[in-house]
Amino acid sequence: MKITVRRSAIGFVCIMMTCVANAQHAPNDDKQEETIRSLISQMTLQEKVSLLHANSKFYVSGIKRLGIPEWALSDGPHGVRAEINRDNWAYAGWTNDSATCFPPGTALAATWNPKLAYERGIVLGEEARFRKKDILLGPGINIIRSPLCGRNFEYMSEDPLLISKMSVAYIRALQSKDVAASVKHWLANNQEEHRDSIDVYMSERALREIYLPGFKASVTEGGAYTVMAAYNKFRGDWCSENEYLDRKILRKELGFKGVLMTDWSAAHSTEKAALAGLDLEMGTDKKDYQEWYFANPLIDAVEAGKVPVSVVDEKVANVLRVMMRTKMLDERSREKGKMNTPEHQRAAYNDAAEAAVLLQNKGDLLPLNFNKIRSIAIIGDNATRKHCGGGLSSEIKTLYEITPLEAIRKKFGATVKINFAQGYDKQSTFKEGSNAGQASSDKVDWKLIDEAVEVAKESEVVIIFGGLNHDFDTESSDKKNMDLPYGQDVLISEVAKANPNTVVVIIAGSPVKLSGIVHRVPAILWSWFGGMEAGNAVADVLSGKVDPSGKMPFTLPVSLEQSPAHALGNFPGRNLKVNYEEDILVGYRWFDTKKITPQFPFGYGLSYTSFEFGALSTDKAVYGKDEVVHVKITVKNTGPRYGAEVAQLYVSDPVATVLRPAKELKAFEKVFLQPGETKTVTLHVKVADLAFYDESKKDWNVEMGDFILQLGNSSGNISRTLKIVVK
Ligand code: BGC
Repeated sequence: MKITVRRSAIGFVCIMMTCVANAQHAPNDDKQEETIRSLISQMTLQEKVSLLHANSKFYVSGIKRLGIPEWALSDGPHGVRAEINRDNWAYAGWTNDSATCFPPGTALAATWNPKLAYERGIVLGEEARFRKKDILLGPGINIIRSPLCGRNFEYMSEDPLLISKMSVAYIRALQSKDVAASVKHWLANNQEEHRDSIDVYMSERALREIYLPGFKASVTEGGAYTVMAAYNKFRGDWCSENEYLDRKILRKELGFKGVLMTDWSAAHSTEKAALAGLDLEMGTDKKDYQEWYFANPLIDAVEAGKVPVSVVDEKVANVLRVMMRTKMLDERSREKGKMNTPEHQRAAYNDAAEAAVLLQNKGDLLPLNFNKIRSIAIIGDNATRKHCGGGLSSEIKTLYEITPLEAIRKKFGATVKINFAQGYDKQSTFKEGSNAGQASSDKVDWKLIDEAVEVAKESEVVIIFGGLNHDFDTESSDKKNMDLPYGQDVLISEVAKANPNTVVVIIAGSPVKLSGIVHRVPAILWSWFGGMEAGNAVADVLSGKVDPSGKMPFTLPVSLEQSPAHALGNFPGRNLKVNYEEDILVGYRWFDTKKITPQFPFGYGLSYTSFEFGALSTDKAVYGKDEVVHVKITVKNTGPRYGAEVAQLYVSDPVATVLRPAKELKAFEKVFLQPGETKTVTLHVKVADLAFYDESKKDWNVEMGDFILQLGNSSGNISRTLKIVVK
């Protein structure tokens, strides 16, 4: 593998995409700080404050006379959003803003391949620069706590390590193109219901072990230039004015020197927010920008002696630092950007193809041999539905979007008779992007089912494209339940009775209940919202051109009640308060510790080929607390096709003074193998990362004794274990 050593603008050395140190300080930082001080010394208070609040929906004023340009922000996270009017939410109707649309966050995490996150960051950076944007509002990295959260599709996983690896790679790549990332939403924005009024409570341990690590890695390893404060409250205080989160943790502990901005309309005060460490106010719902908390009221607060000028200077310095790191003050040397190149589209395809998770394949129905099949039934609304334009703030005006039916027709239509039936109807008056409440979802449409059964009978094989759409997976509301909507359970079972060769493709970005269909059909493929290349990617996986190598980035429960927050009845909270009683037992940590068998476990996914893990070994048997465990494993492709397996290394601490999860993911690697090929992979786990957060000591604690390394290809399938000792 090529070794690249480069110094990032923020001052850490990255080797093979692994940052070995984060000093947040590079030699030329001193020069930069000097320039920042000099610029600030030339500003009036009014000018300083003008840099700390928006002057329209997505722009912040610059200071022309000092050569400081206007700041341009744009939504991400999986594409650069089309241009929005400066003073209202309508699209501006530009003709050059059709972007590359990637599959959203859960799909990216399902690839378990941080290289793809890196590639995505590069593309997003280039397209953001083409659009002259300075900050891209992503990645979205909140923990998937409940299957119902409307924004799960934008987020990545229930596991902090998987999130961290993806987020760090994405941010580093994006920022290498002179565009600042904005990691969101800081913090505990794990539901959309009451998101702008809910007060979240959790233990310090849950904060440190589950909810914080993704943000910590994004800032300290990824070097994120900006962070977006969430709508909700955390332990009684709004996230945008939360002294504990913003000042103590983000600034002091994580050493964050970038810009903390609000989510759109998430500011609630002037003095308190200013003192807690907020830098930039965005999206406030007041027409006159001068009336915003961080506009005239901030000038008044400084003049009244309530907010020291030094606090304002600190904020301005944060803004200028991000501007300089993204070369805003040196446009000539800045990335120029490109839009929608074939390479960009290829990157979107790669993500969609690698994200597909094969959940079930009885009798090896898949892959389908289209050279032999003469007729196929394609059924379901999702066979023809385009999804890139949905979901609210993450919606993309994509250059094109290939649906599954289009792709299958184009690739195989010349030789295979394709019989399409709608199967079910979207049935909703919900308008995507309107916040108008959720779709009605349970009506069984027998007319459509009868038509589907007819085409199923006439065809050799059936593919049903079902799942969800952005009426369900959307910002600003949560799903009401985990069911497959629109009577799909009935549709699928009727079609499968008519033709047992039925494959179900689930297109969704959050968990749905599959217990009604797993016994009815032989094959289930989960193919996510697939971005602009969705159809091409899923067709290639179904036909076997691409071997499925995705793994679930979250647990798929049998029913909602299995899932921790719901088992304990604390979602979405009561009286605008929610207490995360499941504590650190989020996702598979809950299922495995409580010995609950889900429908499909975290990390699960089949392939058309087969793999075997060989011996698991470590460089030593006994480790000190500051050492690193080097774990060697071998993976063999024992089947007939090229494919990839994800080696997942979990660790457990069998004897501890506190409850520890049955297992926790500590390292992973996706390994690509030719038939018969064996590769040896070394995974590295710091002993320090085996610690739990000890509330009594207010510090991390690695207790001496045995730890069990568990190697598997899902949290539910461990094939090798090995004991190590920490002394
Ligand atoms: C969302 C953010 C988004 C912002 C700007 C908010 O409603 O929560 O994620 O970046 O809008 O569109």
